[in-house]
Amino acid sequence: MTHELSSIIDFIRYGASRFSAAGLTFGHSHDNPIDEATHLVLAALHLPPDLPPAYGTGRLVADERERVLALIERRIVERVPVAYLVGETWFAGLKFKSDSRALVPRSPIAELIEGRFTPWLDDRHVERALDLCTGSGCIGIAMAEYNPDWQVDIVDISDDALSLANENIAYQHVEGRVRAIKSDLFSGVKGERYDLIVSNPPYVTNDEYAAMPAEYSHEPVLGLTSGDDGLDITLRILAEAADHLTDDGLLIVEVGDSEHALVELLPELPFVWLEFKVGQMGIFALERRDLVEHASAIAAVRATRP
Ligand SMILES: C[S@@+](CC[C@H](N)C(=O)[O-])C[C@H]1O[C@@H](n2cnc3c(N)ncnc32)[C@H](O)[C@@H]1O
Repeated sequence: MTHELSSIIDFIRYGASRFSAAGLTFGHSHDNPIDEATHLVLAALHLPPDLPPAYGTGRLVADERERVLALIERRIVERVPVAYLVGETWFAGLKFKSDSRALVPRSPIAELIEGRFTPWLDDRHVERALDLCTGSGCIGIAMAEYNPDWQVDIVDISDDALSLANENIAYQHVEGRVRAIKSDLFSGVKGERYDLIVSNPPYVTNDEYAAMPAEYSHEPVLGLTSGDDGLDITLRILAEAADHLTDDGLLIVEVGDSEHALVELLPELPFVWLEFKVGQMGIFALERRDLVEHASAIAAVRATRP
């Protein structure tokens, strides 16, 4: 049967049909089977994601057919995210290496980076930025790519994540402007101040993690869970960020669905929930002065956590 498949389009169509029929979960890089199959087939053939449609009729040779069919099978049987299968994914229009050492890049923060954080940074001068909980390095490296005059530190507690992040620094040629540091949140950047701190920390609750589809079991659990309400790490960030922001500094943090629990815990904090093309995505901005003003409320909630 598969010998009837011939062209790039044939294999994308076949992969999409198989993915749909298998009831796979999408959400790591794409939200539908056709985009997922397109990513898999084009990356496996070492072709760009914006391949002109005319090449879609190009035929695969025997070893390419075998390679693509084997990857389609692994996606279905092992439920490995497509980015891990092909070793690469795209974030903020840039290609990143991706494997099980760190989460697959997929944060909506990409949209903020591509839009140069407008209007949040319009009246601010940024020299130094920090990507806290960097994983593959995608957020910090993309910030450096889009803002060649910024110095960016990227930190993570995981040696595996940092080894991948360092590979991505070299891959994107931003050595010298991006520094990868091993750090338990701010412990490795003591005394450092940043004009902008951006973080996509772990924020999945323990119960949510237990119910997650098989695809997520291939990602490091350290990158996903953060206590019973998903907020253990975020509360530490809120408690410590003011000491690492410049006076006019801004903190941007993704908390996803844990947004509601966070607002309940700290109702008086003036979180600004950012708007994206598709609406709100559980990502807030806070000024340093807000963190300072509400420091005692944050400390009181933080004190109840590990
Ligand atoms: C949700 S992943 C995000 C990765 C990356 N920022 C992204 O958007 O793809 C969270 C990352 O936080 C890291 N992490 C967890 N606890 C940490 C801690 N205490 N200090 C620093 N990094 C931590 C994990 O290793 C993981 O790489």
